[in-house]
Amino acid sequence: MSRARNGAASSSEVRSELTAFGPGKIIVIGEHAAVYGMPVLAGAIQRGVTARAVPGPTRIQAPPELTPPQAEALQRAFAAAAGDVGLSVSVTSDLPVGVGLGSSAALSVAVSRVLLQARGKPFGVKEVRELAAKMEGEFHGTPSGVDHTTSARGELILYRKEGPTKAVKAKKPVRIVVAIAGVRTPTKTTVAGLRERRMTWPKRYARLFGEIGVLAAEAARAVTRGDLAELGDLMTVNHGLLWGMGLSSERLDAMVRRMRSLGALGAKLTGAGGDGGAVIGLFEDPSDALKRLTADGVQCFESTL
Ligand code: PMV
Repeated sequence: MSRARNGAASSSEVRSELTAFGPGKIIVIGEHAAVYGMPVLAGAIQRGVTARAVPGPTRIQAPPELTPPQAEALQRAFAAAAGDVGLSVSVTSDLPVGVGLGSSAALSVAVSRVLLQARGKPFGVKEVRELAAKMEGEFHGTPSGVDHTTSARGELILYRKEGPTKAVKAKKPVRIVVAIAGVRTPTKTTVAGLRERRMTWPKRYARLFGEIGVLAAEAARAVTRGDLAELGDLMTVNHGLLWGMGLSSERLDAMVRRMRSLGALGAKLTGAGGDGGAVIGLFEDPSDALKRLTADGVQCFESTL
């Protein structure tokens, strides 16, 4: 489903423009527990970041939507990955930034792909993942790796920080409405707050993370069987656990309730959560929900996994 192609550019192409795409992602089940090694079900979405590179001084032009700290992180991330490649890179995106849709990973993957193309040697998902991981480290400190792995693979996966990543083949299309419930605190802050609660009550939090891991594995099986009703139920249960661990907010809960009232089979926050971010709802047919949310001024779109 990714629009980008892996593979090296010929040396004649390097003299002209190189382009590559990195898709955004949604976490269907398992954010946060992923940081503690649990499996997480995540899928690449149709929206993402396109990188363009032309020969010139090595630099990246920060997109205007980035805040100054995000733009600084981008410069550090680019310097870590690019070395002295002799490319001027620009990026465009149709992905909302900083709401849990993996915009920094999508950017890291798109930029890594143009850098690898410029090297003129064949490459695949492994090389893209490794280079993108270097960039993500600058944006996020110590991420679980789910964001850039999902973006580099461009498909629905069951990911584990330590362990093999499995592709999950959906028997029926998994049609998701993504709705933005507002800006939020950075992932680092939300992850750090949860780490403190976990250190205070380690046994209970270990049990909760374990249960979320079980939900993710069950969800992967439900997707493979085409059981959307079960997938929806798992998503709503996962939201309840995230709420219980202090990762939701009024805005996110209100959007989850709204999705349910519009007929979602299940709904939950996606990504780090906190005081805002994105909510996903699973629908058999999302057209009516999309119309009604849009009419209410909610920023939303459909993505099929
Ligand atoms: O930055 P976000 O909102 O896409 O969150 C990523 C998911 C977390 O599990 C919260 C962090 C991680 O590295 O897995």
